[in-house]
Amino acid sequence: MELITLKNISKSYGDRKKVKALQGFNFFLSKGEMVAIMGKSGSGKSTVLNVLSGIDILDDGEYFFQGKDMKLVTNDEMTLFRREHIGFVLQHFALIPDYTIYDNIAFSLLLQHESKQKIRERVFAIAKELEIEEILFKYPDEVSGGEAQRTAIARAIIHNPQLILADEPTGALDEETGFRIMNILKKLHEKGHTIVIVTHDSNVAAMCERTVWIKDGKNI
Ligand SMILES: Nc1ncnc2c1ncn2[C@@H]1O[C@H](COP(=O)(O)OP(=O)(O)O)[C@@H](O)[C@H]1O
Ligand SMILES: [Mg+2]
Repeated sequence: MELITLKNISKSYGDRKKVKALQGFNFFLSKGEMVAIMGKSGSGKSTVLNVLSGIDILDDGEYFFQGKDMKLVTNDEMTLFRREHIGFVLQHFALIPDYTIYDNIAFSLLLQHESKQKIRERVFAIAKELEIEEILFKYPDEVSGGEAQRTAIARAIIHNPQLILADEPTGALDEETGFRIMNILKKLHEKGHTIVIVTHDSNVAAMCERTVWIKDGKNI
């Protein structure tokens, strides 16, 4: 089943829209796929993820999510859509420094006003899966890069989103730790999550089912 259709999308930034980040890019994704979007720095990869998550709004083109025309969605609806359906993993983890690892992971459930008991069960289950139970009550500056990235993945999947978007998830890690992170993403894929990974690393792309190339905001 088709989960995502991006048809001929364009997005520019800056004064008089001089920076053309995307210029007629196409991307189709079925439910359950694990796909890499690969391209050099500045090719428009992060912009594609920002469009998918609704952080950036298209200048032109079409975006359908499960058949829903995302152009017709209001800002408030987009925020709710993102909270419900999207899990975002960022290269530099973007953990909240004053929160424990536990609270960083629990964050989106706190926003959804889940019960403390339910949040606790969910955080511990996910921490076990990602082997970060030992560090739950540490702070982000007390853990390793690999642990911080596993925390970021835990945070991204705690609300069981349909779609996981990972922006260079191994970019700030050494090779071995990056490989471990990719194996975690692969396991999530095997459990049924749909995953889009943006990368400039061909080893990362090789671990996905399919690769889509991007250059100057266009398919190649
Ligand atoms: N918020 C922004 N304001 C201005 N220019 C931007 C912004 N975000 C991205 N760009 C520009 O758009 C182009 C594509 O950026 P990006 O999608 O971040 O590429 P990638 O993730 O492949 O490195 C680059 O030229 C970048 O400088
Ligand atoms: Mg980027």
